[in-house]
Amino acid sequence: MRPIVIAANWKMNTTPADAGGLARTIASRTREPGVTRVICPPYVSLAAVRDALAGEDVAVGAQNVHHELAGAYTGEIAAPMLAGLASWVILGHSERRAYAGETDAQVGAKLDRALAAGLRPILCVGEVLADREAGRATEVVDAQLRGALEGRDPVALSAAGLVIAYEPVWAIGTGRNARGADAAAMADAIRAGLRSLGWGGSAETVPVLYGGSVTSANVDEFLTEPAVDGALVGGASLKPDEMAGIVARAGLTARARGLG
Ligand code: 13P
Repeated sequence: MRPIVIAANWKMNTTPADAGGLARTIASRTREPGVTRVICPPYVSLAAVRDALAGEDVAVGAQNVHHELAGAYTGEIAAPMLAGLASWVILGHSERRAYAGETDAQVGAKLDRALAAGLRPILCVGEVLADREAGRATEVVDAQLRGALEGRDPVALSAAGLVIAYEPVWAIGTGRNARGADAAAMADAIRAGLRSLGWGGSAETVPVLYGGSVTSANVDEFLTEPAVDGALVGGASLKPDEMAGIVARAGLTARARGLG
């Protein structure tokens, strides 16, 4: 049985002074049995959020790690530096692919670093609007998956709890969410891609999340889809009322699936 995961990606928002309070408020308003909660603040707020969440069943995640272990990479953070600060990490987010030029090969190397450091990875994939309009969405996502996962050990990745987030670029921060049916179709395509990479039955155990303008008002559309296992939430994840609504709805799905 796959878990239901609601992950908050705070992106470049909050300060160490306010992040802890926000995390605590969200945690206290989202206690739903069977829902795995993750909060991913900026690096400088990881310690504050970790401390604020002591005693709460909410994981802390980072938003990225560098693909090298150490060295002359000014401004970067390596996976081993997150020891004690984070237990999850977002990798290959489309904003990093677009603004930091991250390649599929680098994202694959980041996966290796995350696994070696004991971090649970959320691998992000998703097409831009031109690709969807040209009917190439599945092809693009499949190439991203292949670029990051080919040649990597499915057993190790599934043991590390790999999560895949389907985040169509045109839906991120635009208020224009994908349709539930499209997210479900892509989740099926992602699992087919995993099988073609030699994952066999393990493909069915990988949680696939949807991300892109998720709110408490539209999350139902995604969580009613059996192929979709939760959400990676951006803008709405900074709002306790929104997170309360999203996680409450996730709790219904968790109960329907016999979790919690
Ligand atoms: P929004 O929810 O703000 O569209 O962001 C989605 C996202 O990129 C989460 O990683």
